[in-house]
Amino acid sequence: MSASIQIAYATRSGSTAEVAESIAATLREVGLWADLAAVGKVESLQGTTALILGAPLYMGKFPRDFHWFLGHHRSALTHLHPFCFVLGPTRPESADFEEARKQAEQEFAHYQWLHLAGLQVFGGRWDVNLLPFPFSLARRLPFNPLAKVPGEDIRDWSAIHDWSLTIAAQIKPAA
Ligand SMILES: Cc1cc2nc3c(=O)[nH]c(=O)nc-3n(C[C@H](O)[C@H](O)[C@H](O)COP(=O)(O)O)c2cc1C
Repeated sequence: MSASIQIAYATRSGSTAEVAESIAATLREVGLWADLAAVGKVESLQGTTALILGAPLYMGKFPRDFHWFLGHHRSALTHLHPFCFVLGPTRPESADFEEARKQAEQEFAHYQWLHLAGLQVFGGRWDVNLLPFPFSLARRLPFNPLAKVPGEDIRDWSAIHDWSLTIAAQIKPAA
């Protein structure tokens, strides 16, 4: 049986989308072709045999469209065991990574019927110029408090590559 792989991600300022693209590229390196789409663009999971989900954390929560996706595709998701990656910490502190994992687990706890094959937290990207609405409004403040916070991108592309290969090894027997 050949694997039909779907990568579905939520993103607000693009960094999770770029990680999803990188995962798709790594899968291609080892001969696996994945459909890549934002969660709102995935019409159906019928026929999907392997699913990779990606979402960022904002104030401890996943974006609304990610929650919508989980609810909307519940019947298909109940039988799939998705791999999930979460973007969050923008400082390389282990406490931040632990906190992000806790936040992600709390979010997934709303979906007791969903059984993840794995949950991986990656560092994210913080850039005041790419802030999503409504946080972007802060830029209009006369003394923008966020302007002093230096931009950070701690996405670890090597760790992302390694994780993608681990997933590929698990998907490949079905391909
Ligand atoms: C306003 C705001 C709130 C955030 N809240 C959290 C949070 O609660 N936990 C966390 O781990 N990361 C948090 N982050 C970091 C984001 O998850 C990180 O920047 C991520 O890369 C954004 O993904 P995106 O570019 O795909 O939207 C926050 C970032 C912003 C700008």
